[in-house]
Amino acid sequence: MCGIVGSIGKINTRKYLIDGLYSLDYRGYDSAGLAFLDSSNELKIFKAVGKVEVLDSIAPKEFESSIGIGHTRWATHGAPNETNCHPHVSSHKEIAIVHNGVIENYRALKTRLMGYGYSFESETDTEVIANLLEFNYRKNHDVLDGIRRTIDELEGSFALAIIVKDQPDRLYFMKRSSPLFIGLGDEYKLLASDAVPMIKYTNKFVDLKDDEYGYISKEEVALFKGYDKLEPEITHQSPEFLNRDLGDNPNYMIKEIQETPQVITRLIDNYFDGEKFLFNPKMIEAIKKSDDIIFIACGTSYHASLMGVKYMQYLGKRSEAYVASEWAYFPVFTSKKPLYILLSQSGETADLIRCQKIINSRGSINIAITNTKGSTIERNATFSCLLFSGLEIAVASTKVFSAQVCLLALLTGAIEKHTNVVTHLSVVTSALEKIIENKQDIENIASKIENASMIFFIGRGNDYIASMEASLKMKEISYMHCEAFAGGELKHGPIALVDKDTCLIAFNSDMSTNLALRNNVKEIEARGAKSFVISYSSFMKDDDAFLVDNVKSYLSTIVMVFVSQYLAYYVTLHKGLNIDKPRNLAKSVTVE
Ligand code: G6P
Repeated sequence: MCGIVGSIGKINTRKYLIDGLYSLDYRGYDSAGLAFLDSSNELKIFKAVGKVEVLDSIAPKEFESSIGIGHTRWATHGAPNETNCHPHVSSHKEIAIVHNGVIENYRALKTRLMGYGYSFESETDTEVIANLLEFNYRKNHDVLDGIRRTIDELEGSFALAIIVKDQPDRLYFMKRSSPLFIGLGDEYKLLASDAVPMIKYTNKFVDLKDDEYGYISKEEVALFKGYDKLEPEITHQSPEFLNRDLGDNPNYMIKEIQETPQVITRLIDNYFDGEKFLFNPKMIEAIKKSDDIIFIACGTSYHASLMGVKYMQYLGKRSEAYVASEWAYFPVFTSKKPLYILLSQSGETADLIRCQKIINSRGSINIAITNTKGSTIERNATFSCLLFSGLEIAVASTKVFSAQVCLLALLTGAIEKHTNVVTHLSVVTSALEKIIENKQDIENIASKIENASMIFFIGRGNDYIASMEASLKMKEISYMHCEAFAGGELKHGPIALVDKDTCLIAFNSDMSTNLALRNNVKEIEARGAKSFVISYSSFMKDDDAFLVDNVKSYLSTIVMVFVSQYLAYYVTLHKGLNIDKPRNLAKSVTVE
């Protein structure tokens, strides 16, 4: 799971590659590297373990070059050291490549190539592609033929940018399963794993499809599939949704949390015209006709799915949610007319892509709810709903969680033709604005919990779902040990863990469970733990830690999770950790 960039033609190669890698480091940041041909067509390579900043500091500040490739890595095959860092070069130094994806049959290919005298320095699957390309190229010194043969032999996923040393006027590429886009400039052409690195240079793109390959040059794009030459299909992307400016914010997470109210308003504008909902009527019909609505997702998106289940059950539909990595290997088919809803911020999560392949192979209807236009899951779905949230760069998902729940609420409103959901969501945005005004109080709670040995998050009903997401957020960025429990379950085991170093955060947005939840809090306090209740103001108690304005109960999760995002943010800030790029994680997990 990595990010790749490449450029050819009249452009500042260094700037495009390095800036591009900065914008792709959400795809992994274990190491970074770049390669270019200099003015004498010598291949130059720079590699650095760690984030793009390190590469930026060791690469020459300027270089004369009109062809280059770059890579940011999330290690899969081999440790994150310099040898395993991309670009990788073939044994006879004729070919340099950067790769995003995983080659499943790399061991067999490696053994075969070693038999032909090829040597390997790294533990990566990528070096096998470099050598296989060179091996196939050498058969008749035709690069395109070599690439076509290589595509036929590879099993797995790949997006590749390829420099062939004796062809400095062409930058080659090939792609299967992993995303790859071409950007079109008048005197330059670009490659990247998504449109973001290229948007400053062009708004014209070619979104490559599986098994396509070819080359870009200063003037042209040559595209092939098998033996056929294809006409590139040009699409346009709006810079507005690809904006990476931090503004005055110290990091992306705080920027993205604070954008949530605008994101909700924008989502409403995109799906409601003031009188009626704007969802595809065929999609609404398909949901109504299905006898089982199955949500599948990972991480934060899975927690948003749990709200989707509640909404569908409220409509009287059978519905359930599965974690994608489980369903992919243990799918259940118990209904005659299932409809699947796949939630994914990135639209590129490998576990979910595997599920979608199974669903599509059975001819079942699936709806992709994603923030990423043109992503694999969006493209391969029967219907898709975009979240219009703008780029989410911090690894921990914040505004997109709210957008997902909000979209599911709007969809439910559209199915039952209840437009008042729009009014209810406007109340949510006001409640969120008020939380932003009072964020200092959340920072105070953060100061009181950040030295706990363990944090419990509890709630009942929707607040239990909020607890799960709150606990995940806190774990992801603060590395604190957190657990989420349904309030009533504490006494059935987990309470044994509680001691004076435990902190408890309780979400309390439901009048019907208010008393029961407060009893749960008392039980924990009696064992020496510190507790903090986040409550609806209408049934507050004097010692509650933070109050939020009441919103309709089916939307309370958005508000409670919003508070928890700030909480995780402040704890992490106080600990001095990297908020946007927590250890071991990546924004887009494109490996299983
Ligand atoms: C990774 C991220 C999580 C995210 C999950 C699902 O694990 O670190 O923050 O929730 O992927 O991502 P998706 O793009 O499918 O929503």
